[in-house]
Amino acid sequence: MEIELRLLPPEKRRRLENQSQLPFGRIFTDHMFYMEYTADEGWKGACIKPYEPICLDPAAVVFHYSQTIFEGLKAYYGVDGRIRLFRPERNMARLNRSARRMCMPEVDEDFVLKALKKLVAIEKDWIPRERGSALYIRPLMMGTEAFLGVRPSNEYIFFIILSPVGAYYREGFNPIKIYVTDKYVRAVRGGVGDVKTGGNYAASLMASEEAKKLGYTQVLWLDAIERRYVEEVGTMNIFFYFEDELATPELSGSILPGITRESVIQMARDWGLKVSERRIPIDEVIEGIETGRLKECFGTGTAAVISPVGWLAYKGREYVINEGKTGPLARKLFDELTGIQYGDRPDPYGWIQFVDPS
Ligand code: COI
Repeated sequence: MEIELRLLPPEKRRRLENQSQLPFGRIFTDHMFYMEYTADEGWKGACIKPYEPICLDPAAVVFHYSQTIFEGLKAYYGVDGRIRLFRPERNMARLNRSARRMCMPEVDEDFVLKALKKLVAIEKDWIPRERGSALYIRPLMMGTEAFLGVRPSNEYIFFIILSPVGAYYREGFNPIKIYVTDKYVRAVRGGVGDVKTGGNYAASLMASEEAKKLGYTQVLWLDAIERRYVEEVGTMNIFFYFEDELATPELSGSILPGITRESVIQMARDWGLKVSERRIPIDEVIEGIETGRLKECFGTGTAAVISPVGWLAYKGREYVINEGKTGPLARKLFDELTGIQYGDRPDPYGWIQFVDPS
């Protein structure tokens, strides 16, 4: 499929103002990638066009039954001036995995990656230069058929929008405060907790709002059956560094298979650390804090990068991890990962794909 280019004339293009202190996900670039699908014709009409509102029928499936999936990745402006993407093929594969689970059409992964690179190249001046900031890339698919019966939509749109971003958390790379909820659950095995679909995030809002009111940045979810085993933090996966073991919850079917998670596991193993993907009882975490066996705790995610956790509230008590400070392992992982992403460290795994300027 060809990608039609419908670009704004140079005088109509805006500029990225004030690159320092960029908010997360509030500023959008001049153009977007867009294509449509019908059951009869497949994907068609691929174009890069000006960023604009989408007009949908009020009966569109997505509004009523949330048939929607998305991805999140970033383009980095490297120290050598080259534009880098971090493992974008993993996002494409996860997008199609999500599509299958939500009964949506798959996309041609190579084609969408090509379109994504083209869009980033066109919008290259929107990639912030400051270390720690990047161009966040948000691909999204939704069911758009006007039909109120409950079945998969016969029509879809897929688009990619771009947003120059700074740190996801106000705290930046400083430790955040996490609230462990045993009142709400995020996902059950056999459900869609391991799929990047909007409903998971909608379902998490009430717990997050309650946690925020109590002064916590995010919620740590426990498993839905026993409310005993740690799952994830909604916008990131979670790691615990016990004495001689870096542990993270196993992918049980209700946890999002994060690409940063996968990368951290690989790097830590290559550094000789014992890394386990296993069930982690919250009691083991609390006991680890009380006995000093738990040295560090941090989250991982595209938006969150590596985010140290300094405080954890559970059953009415607040526990301090590593004196509320960023630990050496979180720091080392952050430095290595961002070093690869911004190009000032070698990329031994071949994780980087370059975008050639248009
Ligand atoms: C990401 O890290 O890209 C995510 O998708 C989290 C997002 C919901 C902010």
